[in-house]
Amino acid sequence: MAILVTGGIGYIGSHTCVELLNNGYEVIVMDNLSNGNIISLHRIHELTGNQIKFYNVDLLNRDRLEDIFLENKIDVVVHFAGYKAVGESVEMPLCYYHNNVTGTLILCQVMQKFNVKRMVFSSSATVYSVRGDEPICEEFHLGATNPYGRSKLMVEEIFRDLYASDNNWSICLLRYFNPIGAHPSGRIGEDPNGIPNNLMPYITQVAVGKLKELRVFGNDYPTPDGTGVRDYIHVVDLALGHLKAIEKVKSTIGVEAYNLGTGRGYSVLEMVQAFEKVSAKKIAYNIIGRRPGDVAVCYADPSKAKRELGWVAERGIEEMCSDAWRWQLNNPNGYIEEPPAIIKV
Ligand code: UD1
Repeated sequence: MAILVTGGIGYIGSHTCVELLNNGYEVIVMDNLSNGNIISLHRIHELTGNQIKFYNVDLLNRDRLEDIFLENKIDVVVHFAGYKAVGESVEMPLCYYHNNVTGTLILCQVMQKFNVKRMVFSSSATVYSVRGDEPICEEFHLGATNPYGRSKLMVEEIFRDLYASDNNWSICLLRYFNPIGAHPSGRIGEDPNGIPNNLMPYITQVAVGKLKELRVFGNDYPTPDGTGVRDYIHVVDLALGHLKAIEKVKSTIGVEAYNLGTGRGYSVLEMVQAFEKVSAKKIAYNIIGRRPGDVAVCYADPSKAKRELGWVAERGIEEMCSDAWRWQLNNPNGYIEEPPAIIKV
């Protein structure tokens, strides 16, 4: 069974490739390396002992994309490729829509041409507009507040129209909550460009001495300690969710959304404490004002994924923190070493 992973070099993509290879899938990665480092591919090879066929191809390059489908008998596409920084999306909406929406349109057209109609899509909890102090289920009201989120939502809608036009399509929309952590080996992990936007890489960079102190965005939210509450999920659990979704799209038709979260929220200060406990490092922090666009509480009702995919997140907060820390300690500057030779197409 051959799986084409778009954006397979990136944070979630690379962890998913490891689990796919460990479970006997043939993996073909296409990535334009715009936000990833090819060293992650060598590390995947090192962790699994398996080769990955790699195409340095941009989704917007229809001809090269068609070549991949001509050269390989692809069964399922796992689609991660896309821009993902919320702030940047506000500054460069056209780039985001072009890359995330047009790129996906071209992918679907090529898939249709080659009669490959099974896909697992990397969506986000950011597509939910109503967030109160209750778990979010898949039926919650949709509506994003920034171009990044809207690009995810638009793609979800496009998939629904596609299925309405042709009932042979089978697509799982995986709505991630807050992925953190790293592979327990410490060999692959999150490698943000510049200063991290997200909480966990910021904490690990403070711990390793790259950043001075964490800025906590607000302590006046209606939460037990006043700081924002999120549903953090270990990236390996998230990766395993993709394997379950692949099984699902192989055996059914339709477009279905699934929350991938733990169902449990942690505040910013709880995360700091959990990290300090596993790392034995003190995290200096300073409480500043709220970050625009942030909500008080956001956590999943993951019961649909349990019921229909047979998936539950198994790794707890300490494992998330210790794996994130191991990755940061072993790779203080991310992926920087010289790569050995690999199969390049
Ligand atoms: C963010 C994105 C979301 C994306 C997700 C991917 C925004 C508004 N949302 O979610 O679209 O899908 O990342 O993981 O950017 N915090 C601090 N200090 C920091 C960083 C974060 O206090 O330096 C707080 C935030 O206010 C929030 C929590 O930590 O309460 C988590 O923040 P973050 O990791 O950025 O994730 P989200 O904002 O939930």
